[in-house]
Amino acid sequence: MTGAANGNGRRSGSLRIGVVGLGYWGPNLVRNLHELEDVEIAWICDRRPDVLAGVHRRYPAIAATTSYEDLLADDSLDAIAIATPVSTHFDLAAAALDAGKHVFVEKPLAASSAEGIELMRRARDRRLVLMPGHTFLYSPPVNAIRSLLQAGELGDVYFISTSRVNLGLHQSDVSVTWDLGPHDFSILRYWLDETPTHVSALTRSCVIPGTPDVAFINLEFPSGTVAHVELSWLAPSKLRRTTVVGSQKMIVYDDTSNEPVRVFDSGVDLPNPETFGEYKLSYRTGDIVSPQVGAAEPLFLEMQDFCTAIREGSTPRSSAALGLEVVRMVEAVDGSLEENGARVEVASPAALA
Ligand SMILES: NC(=O)c1ccc[n+]([C@@H]2O[C@H](COP(=O)([O-])OP(=O)(O)OC[C@H]3O[C@@H](n4cnc5c(N)ncnc54)[C@H](O)[C@@H]3O)[C@@H](O)[C@H]2O)c1
Repeated sequence: MTGAANGNGRRSGSLRIGVVGLGYWGPNLVRNLHELEDVEIAWICDRRPDVLAGVHRRYPAIAATTSYEDLLADDSLDAIAIATPVSTHFDLAAAALDAGKHVFVEKPLAASSAEGIELMRRARDRRLVLMPGHTFLYSPPVNAIRSLLQAGELGDVYFISTSRVNLGLHQSDVSVTWDLGPHDFSILRYWLDETPTHVSALTRSCVIPGTPDVAFINLEFPSGTVAHVELSWLAPSKLRRTTVVGSQKMIVYDDTSNEPVRVFDSGVDLPNPETFGEYKLSYRTGDIVSPQVGAAEPLFLEMQDFCTAIREGSTPRSSAALGLEVVRMVEAVDGSLEENGARVEVASPAALA
């Protein structure tokens, strides 16, 4: 941070942040960081000169470089935000932490839990923030649903079913599960406050041999809730639709709708379960309520949380621990696929040595 040291030895003033990776997603980080008060984007970096030049034209006052080393060597740089392909996350984040920089790294945290644990260890040892970019934890509809779940409005959550499909973008270095799965896995973890115990999965590599572009994933949670996650880069229309079915109410969350959350006072009751042979189910279809949800851009709130974590030493909502759990869930999917779709255990979080 530039400016004078305060009483805690911490320096006040603007946070100086560099952004590396300016392909599809990185420019969104630049735009949102640019909007934040007391943040100075000191560097933009992409190894492709044409891509770098494109963003530099929009932000000519920011220093631009094709060499990541320039960011590492800048002693006045507080933090680095990384939006490069998954396979590069570990090397770039580890180098930034080793250079004493706080790190925001796009989801998933790393390409394996071993890499994630190593990054967490380096951040802890150097007392630096390490934050994965699970943007949906900052989404107003996702938070509205979390509040309803926490208030017990839905009763017992029986199951959750979710579709995240559209045409593109095929990633060169990861499967659709590593690319899109972290969104749904982080949302489920955040809503239910628990990590699944078991996972089973089925995928197919339709277009690029060896790169699954459609995945059907089943998850089982300790509370008894089950979930089905459908992911694909191959679909005629974009769907971002989640159904949450509880014993009291049900929710449909459609992230593409201008009424993204609809709460259904619907359900089915089994009045006297003991007399199973003669039971009569009673179905209930009551009001449908569409709660007002905020309009804030999730990525802006996410960048704000990153800066607060640096300034105040707080743990961001999208914490490295949550990021590691998400990586473990994706690894469990791969484990299931290696065993022809068998039901496999999700590794439990091990304490950092
Ligand atoms: N949070 C979200 O909603 C969201 C959405 C899309 C993508 N992402 C994540 O963002 C990351 C990037 O995805 P993308 O689709 O923008 O990828 P992309 O391939 O479009 O862009 C990546 C950029 O990184 C650059 N790059 C790679 N290695 C570099 C290095 N060592 N130094 C400098 N530049 C380097 C490449 O030249 C490229 O321009 C991924 O982790 C992805 O999962 C997150």
